[in-house]
Amino acid sequence: MRNTEFKSFFDFDQFKQKMANLNATRHFIIVDSNTLEHCLPQLDLMAIPSLQDAELIEVEPGEQSKTIEVCSGIWKTLLEADADRKSAVINLGGGMITDLGGYVAAAFKRGIRFINIPTTLLAMIDAAIGGKVGINLDHHKNQIGHFADAELIWVHPSFLKTLPDRELISGKAEMYKHGLIADASHWGELMNGDRIPDTEQIFNSIRIKLGIVETDQRESGNRKLLNFGHTIGHALEAWAHQVGYDTRHGEAIAAGMMVESLLSKDILGLSKNELIEIQQVMLLNYDFSLWKSLSFDDIMPYLLKDKKNESERVNFTLLHSIGNSSIDHFIAPDLIKSALSKTQEMWR
Ligand SMILES: NC(=O)c1ccc[n+]([C@@H]2O[C@H](COP(=O)([O-])OP(=O)(O)OC[C@H]3O[C@@H](n4cnc5c(N)ncnc54)[C@H](O)[C@@H]3O)[C@@H](O)[C@H]2O)c1
Ligand SMILES: [Zn+2]
Repeated sequence: MRNTEFKSFFDFDQFKQKMANLNATRHFIIVDSNTLEHCLPQLDLMAIPSLQDAELIEVEPGEQSKTIEVCSGIWKTLLEADADRKSAVINLGGGMITDLGGYVAAAFKRGIRFINIPTTLLAMIDAAIGGKVGINLDHHKNQIGHFADAELIWVHPSFLKTLPDRELISGKAEMYKHGLIADASHWGELMNGDRIPDTEQIFNSIRIKLGIVETDQRESGNRKLLNFGHTIGHALEAWAHQVGYDTRHGEAIAAGMMVESLLSKDILGLSKNELIEIQQVMLLNYDFSLWKSLSFDDIMPYLLKDKKNESERVNFTLLHSIGNSSIDHFIAPDLIKSALSKTQEMWR
């Protein structure tokens, strides 16, 4: 599927029609217990004829299901149900389900078609689009996977009505990121809009992500723009998981965006007013107490492990201004340490 077809992602009639045109021999819907409870009934109500006799495959919710063991269980179910190469997998869930189900489909019989119906904000604007699928290996995230495009994607923002607020706001961090790296008016709309993003805002985030991905399918250049907030964010997330703190990806990314915005001011001259605007939005929406007292040494090992680094200098995507960013800024640890501790003062 070409990424520019994304306008049709929101069109239910087109989705229904394309589902019929798939001519799949069998349909398998992968859900977790939450999407089984909250999202499947909505799908049933919409009466998509080709899904009427679909087989349901349920996995436990949460990141612990993104494993080869769970895949193996699903592959056995598919085999026992005589799934063939013309069968289709429908992923009804958040990023965990779209990553897992996409991986299952991409590997089964050398690849069967999969359809993504994202039900979290993060999956709608990030995980379910852009062609990456995968699973974790022990505690190493997303280490096993493929580039594989969904045959079809249907984005239905009504699913967000039952999504817990913490998941919603975590997913919204990636939308703020989209505005910061590529579109000042998207940032402005989010900043002044309601807590739950509207369809137009979701649409704009998808447009920005796919616009970037399309120029760099294999993540060798421009796609690194999407890493804004993630160099620090991933290190904070890895540290939190290691010490056993409960955190969400977007919460770590929001913290990462604060630190990396300060670096953007130091290195690229991001204006003071814009820096303050970014800091205020993050402080208003996220709780950073988890990270207020960690030391730079706690996260340094994770920062240095990044394969995009050059010797001891760490690779960042930074902002010139809100809506304008660039990749490959290599920064020495001293400067990062100072940006982290200055930002931590705001977290107290
Ligand atoms: N492939 C990619 O490009 C990409 C990009 C970003 C993230 N990811 C992956 O996405 C995953 C995180 O995705 P996520 O944040 O969507 O998490 P998730 O899929 O675990 O969903 C979060 C929680 O919300 C529940 N849920 C989902 N939809 C719901 C709904 N409509 N109502 C009520 N509850 C609902 C889930 O059961 C789960 O408990 C990670 O594994 C991450 O690695 C992948
Ligand atoms: Zn992210």
